[in-house]
Amino acid sequence: MGDKRQRMMALTAFLFLGPLATFPAGCFSAANQPSQLKKKSPQTTVSNRLGSSVVFPVQGNVYPIGYYYVNINIGNPPKLYDLDIDTGSDVTWVQCDAPCTGCTKPRDRLYKPKNNLVPCADPACIAMYAPEIPKCKDPNDQCDYEVNYADHGSSFGVLVKDNFPIRLYNGSSFSPRLAFGCGYDQKYSGSHPPPSTAGVLGLGNGKGSIVSQLHALGLTQNVVGHCLSGRGGGFLFIGDDLVPSSGIIWTPISHNSLEYHYSSGPAELLFGGKPTGVKGLFIVFDSGSSYTYFNAQAYQTTVNLLRKDLTGKPLKDAPEDKSLPICWKGPKSFKSVGDVKDYFKPLVLSFTNARSVQLQLPPEAYLIVTKQGNVCLGILNSAEVGLENRNIIGDISMQDKMVIYNNEKQLIGWTPANCDRLPKF
Ligand SMILES: *[C@@H]1O[C@H](CO)[C@@H](O)[C@H](O)[C@H]1NC(C)=O
Repeated sequence: MGDKRQRMMALTAFLFLGPLATFPAGCFSAANQPSQLKKKSPQTTVSNRLGSSVVFPVQGNVYPIGYYYVNINIGNPPKLYDLDIDTGSDVTWVQCDAPCTGCTKPRDRLYKPKNNLVPCADPACIAMYAPEIPKCKDPNDQCDYEVNYADHGSSFGVLVKDNFPIRLYNGSSFSPRLAFGCGYDQKYSGSHPPPSTAGVLGLGNGKGSIVSQLHALGLTQNVVGHCLSGRGGGFLFIGDDLVPSSGIIWTPISHNSLEYHYSSGPAELLFGGKPTGVKGLFIVFDSGSSYTYFNAQAYQTTVNLLRKDLTGKPLKDAPEDKSLPICWKGPKSFKSVGDVKDYFKPLVLSFTNARSVQLQLPPEAYLIVTKQGNVCLGILNSAEVGLENRNIIGDISMQDKMVIYNNEKQLIGWTPANCDRLPKF
């Protein structure tokens, strides 16, 4: 117990403070260029296929840690920050020495702003608020941000710009100045302990996300992907160098909702290869969520089918294990999902807009084995946690797959992969 950290999809919602200001023309400088790029004008690059990739080793796991994170250098001289990787939100933020309420890191591990606040009229502030417009009294006011997560946690602070030293996959090193949040007021949801990370790496498809910023600077394609290992760890990449040219299952990103998320659908739910009657599901792919969430109907159907299948098998309900809402115990304690997978059939999400586009969910993609040696269902009911009728594919269901979010082509793709080894540089 106490290991259940369920950071979920972030529903970005900014607070608009102050009256609407009009922005004087000429305020929009090109100060956002990385210094190394200034030598080369964009015209000198002939290739259409601009940019390379950045690859980051990933640490963490679904259970017991509850999230995957990367260590990222920020500043000059650079300092390392461990950031939760979140394709469900756009704002990157780091715990801030401002002073801070709700910072969990010791003071020397916090980010210290130094005359690098982003003014309200800066393109970076405007991008962060897009498609809304930041409201500020004076164009030189600081650019406040607020991000609220679906688990009721939040971060509030001010936008800053600093260097992100990176080495690209093609061997070149850059230190672009990117905008991110200096978070000096964090709230965490009461039901689980605050995450131990220094902040969040926002990888969503909004204009303010790190992915969009690197793309706007011509450094990477507007593509992000991850490979999360079921044994923990893995890698994250921005840019498309690591994406295999074949073998990927692609489905269009749908814009059926007002929210900016990596969503796709509609999909039908299959159990053991057979239709369940659950159809029309729109699915959000969210690396910021440890578990998978189904709407009440899909959830109840899944639970009923699993329970029916377990009759006569040596698994009994284990309500005493509070790791997750539904757990089962066996005759003796289990060590890994491998010990129980024969009792569980695969689930499949079959996308109806294209033939043979399926997301396979073998037992390893929806079960965990707890410290108590029980097996628990890693699919949760979104209605029970205030996510209404959303369907969210979380880390548990993306393990041992490469998952690619291609904003250039507006596609989400996946393929089974070995995520234990960082691809060769
Ligand atoms: C690597 O890619 C970047 C971004 O497109 C480019 O500016 C740089 O020249 C490339 N380096 C090499 C060695 O090709």
